[in-house]
Amino acid sequence: MEDRWLSVDEIATYLGVKRDTVYSWISGKHLPAHRVGRLWKFKRDEVDEWVRQGGDFQAIGVDIDPSVLDWGRENRLGRLAPEDRARVRLIESDVMDVDTPDVDILVAFNFSYFIFNTREMMRAYFRRVYEALKDDGVFFCDMFGGPEAQEETREKTKHKKHGFTYIWEQAEFHPVTHYMRTHIHFKFKDGSKIRNAFTYEWRLWTPPEIRELLLEAGFRTATVYWEGEDEDGEERSQARVADAEVAHPGMIREDPAPRNRPPARLYRPAASA
Ligand SMILES: C[S@@+](CC[C@H](N)C(=O)[O-])C[C@H]1O[C@@H](n2cnc3c(N)ncnc32)[C@H](O)[C@@H]1O
Repeated sequence: MEDRWLSVDEIATYLGVKRDTVYSWISGKHLPAHRVGRLWKFKRDEVDEWVRQGGDFQAIGVDIDPSVLDWGRENRLGRLAPEDRARVRLIESDVMDVDTPDVDILVAFNFSYFIFNTREMMRAYFRRVYEALKDDGVFFCDMFGGPEAQEETREKTKHKKHGFTYIWEQAEFHPVTHYMRTHIHFKFKDGSKIRNAFTYEWRLWTPPEIRELLLEAGFRTATVYWEGEDEDGEERSQARVADAEVAHPGMIREDPAPRNRPPARLYRPAASA
């Protein structure tokens, strides 16, 4: 069958089930379906992949701190429908020791992996990530950086609707080791404060270091996406991409909108310049 959009009847025939089953799988089991007006449309390769998955996606959360997992159970899992809750597993463990089935996607967000502060530790962590993934798996992690990240500063963000101010403090930054200590404080309408609600001690890693370590750990490619800016220099959620091919680890792919990134030609190997 060619790769065209299929109807509910066609996908029901393809899967050998009734129309009603297709509808119940869309709502209850996340069968990949696209709504066009009142109609549902399907792509066969997406449905094939879903069937291969066993018709259900599973999520695993790992944290070393039981209070973090308890918070997640109360405030996040508790909001899910029982059948969705059953697909989430929380494990209290060090990420370096945890044993999980191989996964398609692994994420480390909120810069949490910056606690690994030597090349050896970071490479060992990325190797663990690599081994925890399926062969065609993908790892996503976020970063922050740039000149402002290296300043000892405070940044206040008012959340008027919720009646509090969020204060991000970069208390210490060491230019030689890139050790940094940061705090999050909160200030409330009634004048009360929570000082040092969170404190982080990290190494401020840079994109070239992280890319090199990912490739050294075995990843085929390491691609950097970053947030663009509009004309006023304000952040924009649309991501820009700089792609690093394994054959040319120093190369950044041409970007149709070259603002906000280093000139690609400086990074290109001489042979392809
Ligand atoms: C900055 S938080 C990020 C949490 C989460 N990724 C998010 O985006 O909200 C870092 C988390 O890493 C956990 N953590 C620190 N070291 C760990 C380790 N070795 N293994 C597992 N979790 C760890 C901490 O308990 C903390 O909850």
